[in-house]
Parts: sequence; structure tokens; C-alpha cells
Amino acid sequence: MQQLIRGRILDFHADPAETEDNHRYLEDGAILIENGRIVAVDDYAALAKPGLAEIDHRPNLILPGFIDPHIHFPQVQVIGSWGAQLLDWLNTYTFPEESRFADEGHATRMAGLFLDQLTMHGTTSAVAFCSVHATSAEALFSAAEARDMAMIAGKVMMDRNAIPEVQDTPQQGYDDSKRLLEKWHGRGRQRYAITPRFAITSSPEQMEATGALVGEFPDCAIQTHMSENLDEIEFTLSLYPKARDYLDIYETYGLLSDKLLLGHCIHLRDREIARMAETGSRAVFCPTSNLFLGSGLFDEAGLRKAGIVSGIATDVGGGTSYSMLQTLNEGYKILQLRDQKLHPLTAFHWATRGNALALGMEDEIGTLAPGSAADLVVLDVNATSTMALRAERAETLAEELFILQIMGDDRAVAQTYVAGKPMKAVA
Ligand code: GUN
Ligand code: FE
Repeated sequence: MQQLIRGRILDFHADPAETEDNHRYLEDGAILIENGRIVAVDDYAALAKPGLAEIDHRPNLILPGFIDPHIHFPQVQVIGSWGAQLLDWLNTYTFPEESRFADEGHATRMAGLFLDQLTMHGTTSAVAFCSVHATSAEALFSAAEARDMAMIAGKVMMDRNAIPEVQDTPQQGYDDSKRLLEKWHGRGRQRYAITPRFAITSSPEQMEATGALVGEFPDCAIQTHMSENLDEIEFTLSLYPKARDYLDIYETYGLLSDKLLLGHCIHLRDREIARMAETGSRAVFCPTSNLFLGSGLFDEAGLRKAGIVSGIATDVGGGTSYSMLQTLNEGYKILQLRDQKLHPLTAFHWATRGNALALGMEDEIGTLAPGSAADLVVLDVNATSTMALRAERAETLAEELFILQIMGDDRAVAQTYVAGKPMKAVA
């Protein structure tokens, strides 16, 4: 059955990402949907037909759903844990909490609640770290499949420097990852991401096994962390004394390519920047996490100038909000401290099309192109009295977007569609 969704429509061109000319805007537009896919986008008058089911979201904005390219599923109950920087935070709060995901019942319950949080905040796809347990990845993929929601996820591989409850071994990590990958990668909208947590928690043997898996499945995404925190970097280099730098560890085991998503990338050396650019490796900026854990200030302009493609992500539960709007808000403030500017049109490009480009999934998500998934977010700039008061004085689309970027959160998400289905209760 076809359906028409009407509103003020905004989507973004692949290029250019950083100018005011990066988008298409339809003041009275409509999206024609059939079987969870977009058939056409045009002015409402051009698509309206007698008898066609219609939902009218005017005066709200309709955009491609947000994409969160770095988030931790088993950290739903870690978010907002007090007083620690990265390594203490992992040992004190995170690893014990992740150990609970060995239990299938717990993992299944949390998977549903996690996906509810994403869609409540307007996020329709995510790249997620699961716990070390295969059960956690099974639970997340099963829940996402039931909603026809595109998840890119993997069980973390980690075989040292953590409590035994969240450790695997090089062989078990390889076997479990391969089995999950063969089951889930490309099944419906699900994709597997090969997921060594980071070099601290993987022995050289495990990195070797990871490299073998990457060699066998070159079209899979790979996700890990790099250069988030100064103590982390020092400890990492002490564990891999032959490495020239942090990136060199991942390079040695054959992980560098445009499939590699490197969370954080704050404290990079020049060689690492040059090598990331040469290999197409992606950086993922996690602003709320970087502020919350006191990690440091991401150099967006510097990496872009070097030719590195970056994503922007929540990193829940180091990150403090599922909201990509709040993520853009804190991102704006971090870049202010670096004397860089995050223009609202660039910001909304980044959270949708830009993140899809970073994942190489730009034909499927983060777009309103015909044939792509009908994953949409509907945004209401009048969601709170503070926003509505400010919006009275907004004259341009960019101003409206900036109000959403700085003051918006889940309250500004009037509706989220995943594969054409509304995820919020319809009033
Ligand atoms: N580095 C390794 N594991 C993690 C994690 O769970 N969160 C963050 N922010 N950094 C990490
Ligand atoms: Fe992370």
C-alpha cells in the first residue's frame, strides 16, 4: 500500500558537506512510501492523489532518520556514571555492567529498550558495540530485525585487561564473530561489524585473528577505539612496544581501510593522520562522551583538511545522550573551543548523509532518494517553550535548525519512521 507523508522536507546532497548549498528543501513537500521504501519525493501538489493515505506533519520538518555510527548497546545502564576518566570508568562501571549481557533474558530485554531509546530520539540506524557475549549480538540483531531497523553491530573481541566475565580468547572471539557474521551480515537490513574493542583489551594473538577475519570478509565494517585518552595511549604503546604509534597496531594486523571506524581519534600524531587519510580510515567524533570522560577536543577541521572522512556519534554510555541533536550541540561547543564552527546545515548533513557516507551506506540510509529505506525523523522546533520563544525570532531554515541543534532533544522528535512505520505512538 502506498502512503504519503507531508511536511517541510529537508535532505542533503552527498557533496558539498560544508556549504549552505548542501541541501534540498521543500516548503510543502511530500514523501511517497511503499513497502517501507521511498518511491518519490516532491512538492505535495505533485504527489497528492485522491484515495492516497496521507499523514500531515506540517509545520514540522521531515529529514532522513539520524544515524549513530558509534554506540554501546550493553551500556544502557552505564550512562551517567560518576567521576571517572576512561580507564577507571571502564573498570569500575562498564566491564561489570557488560558482564550481565551473558544472560540471554537480560540481553533480550535490554535490546528492546535500547532500540526504543534510539527511535525515541530520532535515530533510525546505528553502529553498535555489543558485549563480549554472542548472546548480546543475537539479542540486538533479533530485536532490530523484528522492527526492520538497519543495525550494524558486532560482539566485542577482548581477551585481556578486563575482568574474566567479559573476556573471550583469540579462538573463541574469532569463532563467535565468524558465526554471528555468517548468520547476520546481509540478512534483511542487518550488517555485521568486526569489533575488536581496542588494543588494550586485545592481545597480539587476538589482533592476528581479527586481521584474519577482516581478510576473509573484506566488505564488513570494522569498529574499534583509538586515541581517546592520554593514559589509554600510554598504556597501549607499552603493550605494543614495537608499534610506531597507536594506529600502527591496527595497521600491523591489516585493519586499515575505508571500512574501519575509529572511535574518538582525539590525540593523533601527524603520521597517524596521514596514514588514516591514505587508507580511507574513518574517524568518529563522540562529543558528549569526550566532554563527560574529560578525554579532549576533536580536531574536525584538521582531520577534514587532511582528507579524513569523519562521522559524529553519541558513544552512549560514555556519551550522555542518545540524542543526535544533543550530540551536535556538544559538538558545536567543542569546536568553538578549537575556534572552529559547526554550521547547522553542516551539522544536520553530518548526522544523516555524512554518517551514511562514512559507513559507505549512502544509497540505503541518510537519504530520501527513491529506492532508499523510508527511515525518517520529524522535528518540531516548537517542542519546548524555550525553543518556541526563540523560534518566534527565527527567519531562516538555518536558524530553525540551529535552535534544534542547540536546544533540541527527544522532545523535539515528533515522530520517527523506520522502514515506513511510525515508532512513536500517534496522538
Ligand atoms: N574504549 C574501549 N572501550 C570503550 C568504551 O566502552 N567506551 C569508550 N568511550 N571508550 C572505550
Ligand atoms: Fe565507544
